[in-house]
Amino acid sequence: MKSLVVYFSRADENYNVGTVEVGNTELLAKEIIAKTGADEFKIEPKDKYPAVYQEAIERATEERRSDARPEYIGDVDIAGYDTIFFGYPIWWGDMPMVVYNFIEKHNFDGKTVIPFNTHEGSGNAGTYEKFAELMSGATLKGDGFNMSGSTARTEEGIRKLDEWLEELGV
Ligand SMILES: Cc1cc2nc3c(=O)[nH]c(=O)nc-3n(C[C@H](O)[C@H](O)[C@H](O)COP(=O)(O)O)c2cc1C
Repeated sequence: MKSLVVYFSRADENYNVGTVEVGNTELLAKEIIAKTGADEFKIEPKDKYPAVYQEAIERATEERRSDARPEYIGDVDIAGYDTIFFGYPIWWGDMPMVVYNFIEKHNFDGKTVIPFNTHEGSGNAGTYEKFAELMSGATLKGDGFNMSGSTARTEEGIRKLDEWLEELGV
């Protein structure tokens, strides 16, 4: 069984965690990679988000308002993978628009998809249901995994992630 971790995560100044070099979701993604040996694809927007939190917020607001599909650098052929872990932060009660772009560009039919996300209060914000709709030909495994971004930066957070991975049996 071949696994891939696809994720989007924004470093720099962020809510509740100050200025960080590695984003919250990326920390979870890296742990999943370390524990499962999965391959990695990081969704990197061609136009990087501003490092200043308030400016990033403004851009994300505009992208949502215009239902944008921001371009990202490179791509991955998911055909060769059986299981795809899919990670992202919650932005405005939803997935960032660049994540929609990635999902719409790929065919998930027959894949096992395992979503995970970070947030600061919204949980998964109904995004797992959106996954089920957008990837109707895929099997969603488990109930997903979500955690506050600040918890993802702690040993306790990583321990919880490891427990979840063990329960999943991957
Ligand atoms: C543009 C933007 C919008 C956000 N909207 C929400 C939200 O609606 N609900 C929530 O719980 N957290 C929200 N957050 C907080 C992020 O989900 C949280 O900080 C997350 O851990 C960031 O992950 P990252 O470091 O991987 O990018 C938002 C953050 C940003 C930058």
